[in-house]
Amino acid sequence: MAERKKVVVTSALPYANGDIHIGHLVEYIQTDFWVRFRKMRGDECLYVCADDTHGTPVMIRARNEGITPEELIKRSHEAHYRDFSDFQIAFDNYYTTNSPENKEFCEQIFAAMKSAGAVTEKSAPQLYCEKCRMFLPDRFVKGTCPKCGAAGQYGDSCDHCGSTYGAEELGSPVCTTCGSTPVVRDATHLYFELEPQHEFLEKWIPGHTSQDIAKKLLEWFGEPLRGWCISRDEPYFGFQIPGYPGKFFYVWVDAPIGYMASLKNLGRFDLWNDPNAELYHFIGKDIIRFHLLFWPGMLKTAGFKLPDGVFVHGFLTVNGEKMSKSKGTFITARTYLDHLPAEALRYYYAAKLGGNADDMDLNLEDFVRRVNSDLVGKITNIASRGAQMLQKKLSGRLGRLDAEGRELLAKCREAGEGIAKSYLDRRFNAATTEICRLADTVNAYFDSKKPWETVKSDLETTRTTLTASLNAFRILAIYLKPVLPVYADKAMRLFGESEWMWDSAARDVEDAALGAYEYLASRIDSKQVEAMVAAAQVKPAETGEVSHESRASKNKGMREEEKGKREEGNGSGDVPPLKAEIAFPDFEKLDLRIGKVEACETVPKSSKLLKLSIDAGALGKRTIFSGIRAAYPDPSALVGREVVFVANLAPRKMSVGVSEGMVLFAGTPGESGGAISPTSEAGAGVQVT
Ligand code: 2FM
Ligand code: ZN
Repeated sequence: MAERKKVVVTSALPYANGDIHIGHLVEYIQTDFWVRFRKMRGDECLYVCADDTHGTPVMIRARNEGITPEELIKRSHEAHYRDFSDFQIAFDNYYTTNSPENKEFCEQIFAAMKSAGAVTEKSAPQLYCEKCRMFLPDRFVKGTCPKCGAAGQYGDSCDHCGSTYGAEELGSPVCTTCGSTPVVRDATHLYFELEPQHEFLEKWIPGHTSQDIAKKLLEWFGEPLRGWCISRDEPYFGFQIPGYPGKFFYVWVDAPIGYMASLKNLGRFDLWNDPNAELYHFIGKDIIRFHLLFWPGMLKTAGFKLPDGVFVHGFLTVNGEKMSKSKGTFITARTYLDHLPAEALRYYYAAKLGGNADDMDLNLEDFVRRVNSDLVGKITNIASRGAQMLQKKLSGRLGRLDAEGRELLAKCREAGEGIAKSYLDRRFNAATTEICRLADTVNAYFDSKKPWETVKSDLETTRTTLTASLNAFRILAIYLKPVLPVYADKAMRLFGESEWMWDSAARDVEDAALGAYEYLASRIDSKQVEAMVAAAQVKPAETGEVSHESRASKNKGMREEEKGKREEGNGSGDVPPLKAEIAFPDFEKLDLRIGKVEACETVPKSSKLLKLSIDAGALGKRTIFSGIRAAYPDPSALVGREVVFVANLAPRKMSVGVSEGMVLFAGTPGESGGAISPTSEAGAGVQVT
């Protein structure tokens, strides 16, 4: 038997400020396949993860909801854990970065970095929002690109020309939280200097990730590596930096350290530095900089073992496009589970994942077709036809295999090591393709033996056929176990067994009673998919998506340079394209009026809505509910302002009351922009307030 390896595996830690969605699941599901496979091969493999709880977005979200960050992260942890469990993702430990273990490791690693002389203090100009009373992270400010002049660019890189710059270089910067103009203030920060590790990293990277990813990273090595800013100023939800009052570790410092903390909390930190143990990280391609530059740099400086491999995957598209709330393709784990079985998505992801960083498309029609034709029609069908006939006509007893049956099983077994190799290389698509090919062979055998005919005249021949078919199914179900663990467990019980390891496939089950047939998988219906999409769809009126159009050009999938969206953004990643063009007569139907906001308040239980009372002059008073709370953490900021609103919109009944119109906003809801207000008494111009 092969040597039993010790392996630690991680997936990137999901942010605590948002729900798990099907895009996240691409990573957790494939990590779970791999871990389960290694466990089945007999390795001691531990899968650790945690919620990524610190940083500005968590702090702001909690503030907007009127709860403490601790309350928010507790709620997220419970919800995330439930989602993962229901998707059959089995962590050995699912922890939190807001833990004593993590704090201790952070302090230890920081102290080591300092004593190695790798931490410097530098003062640099930074944007400060006087209204929000905070320095603005790159993704909390927008303005015009200093290089090409494109408007609406974030503070770190331009989506239009691709250049990178400092947020303070943006033209006409705007705080995306409150819409006001930030000022420039000098701020002193701590930097982790990477240049001393230039040569080391240049050699290390290519052996620890795929070629294309290494190539991408090495593009930065032509010049000295820039220091990485590792501190943030208060207010910040995170760990204080010892010896630097008012300064906190940047969330990206304590996030990967969270892998260590989770392992420690599991009581197995011994494995981290064990030279005989392996360590692997699964991550998305937007965070390679953190895992293949900063993280190995930190570990090396602090004397910890570096990962043996960083496995990078691409992004998920749905029906060929980036997930979109308005199209109903931004599907949370929970919404999916409300309509469809977890197994279907696990199977489909396996069928599509090839172990590289290419983006992966979930085509919803193909999804239904493939689950039905392959998982149900080809694979499961062998068991349901065979087991039911055996139970009904042959008192549920398997007989002996004949030569032909043994030959069939030999074919299934011969393919085993190839399938195992595919799993190990994370080419899950190759593994499922091979399993389907074997299922075709088994079905062909079954059909050629015509047991539905022989059962009428020759029971024992029929038993022999079914014994071979069901044994073959058993082997396929063992091969599928990393992908479909619950399914495999039910299949295992059918054969009266209590544990399936990879080499269980070598065993023949003869002269044995079959257990009760438990439902394994059933066809899915496109109606379920339609209902899921409808449930996921968010109407523009509720999101205030009106102003998303300005970002339509970004709707091309997240590029590496956009990492900041995960780093500091709201996590939604949803940028719908422009809606269909409208003709002038359509536009003309809008009756735009100016009104004065007399009162503006939050709406109980809604994190999005504000209730505005508007004095519309001759039109009287109007109550309008608007999904712009994120843009106005302090609703009183709108009181007394004149705003432009659509006065002839049909009143709309919402769960919180009737909305009598629509206030116009510009910018990106939840991130930037504000109400459109007239700039002069005559209402001749407009500005975003
Ligand atoms: O990009 C993200 O979603 C981060 N929360 C991932 C952190 S991974 C790790 F370093 F902890
Ligand atoms: Zn602000």
